[in-house]
Amino acid sequence: MKKITLPAASRLTSPNPVTLVCTLRPDGGTNLATVSWWNYLSFNPSMIAFAMAKTSYSGECVRETKEVVVTVPGAALASQAVSCGSTTGRDTDKAATFGVELTELDGCAIRVPVHSRVAIQCELKDFIEVGDHYLYICTVKNVYGDANEEALFAWNGYAEIAPAAKKV
Ligand SMILES: Cc1cc2nc3c(=O)[nH]c(=O)nc-3n(C[C@H](O)[C@H](O)[C@H](O)COP(=O)(O)O)c2cc1C
Repeated sequence: MKKITLPAASRLTSPNPVTLVCTLRPDGGTNLATVSWWNYLSFNPSMIAFAMAKTSYSGECVRETKEVVVTVPGAALASQAVSCGSTTGRDTDKAATFGVELTELDGCAIRVPVHSRVAIQCELKDFIEVGDHYLYICTVKNVYGDANEEALFAWNGYAEIAPAAKKV
């Protein structure tokens, strides 16, 4: 092995996970942001975490409302996941602009993409500063899944979004 940078390592670990982090906008709409840096933390109690740049609008929304749904988008959302990862929700309704159809979850104020393989509805427990990001530590309230939706992954680091079957 040779010495490399952390971004270079993220290309070697591809395919990397892809989620669409769903947060509540002040107008009741859903903000969608593409996030690869998420992880399971604990099964008992159920907890997950994700890291987002300090400047992200999603972070602002989740710190304000303490609610978030982390979804794994289905294959139908490949191009929208790229768009949601390169636009801020601060001045754009991404779901409307990029044509992401949303659906309700029981007892949840945040609507989520219809084409989701997994949706993890969470309450924000804490967030901590980690360099240029905040790490959002979340308690899981409900989890939903649909095995018929094919999960998306990020390839070549985070440059391309496609199902894992791409390389088979
Ligand atoms: C494949 C991919 C993965 C990404 N992963 C992350 C991530 O883990 N954390 C992060 O802060 N931004 C990540 N981004 C960038 C955000 O999605 C981007 O900054 C977005 O504009 C934030 O939107 P917001 O301001 O509405 O929250 C990723 C983008 C792409 C395309």
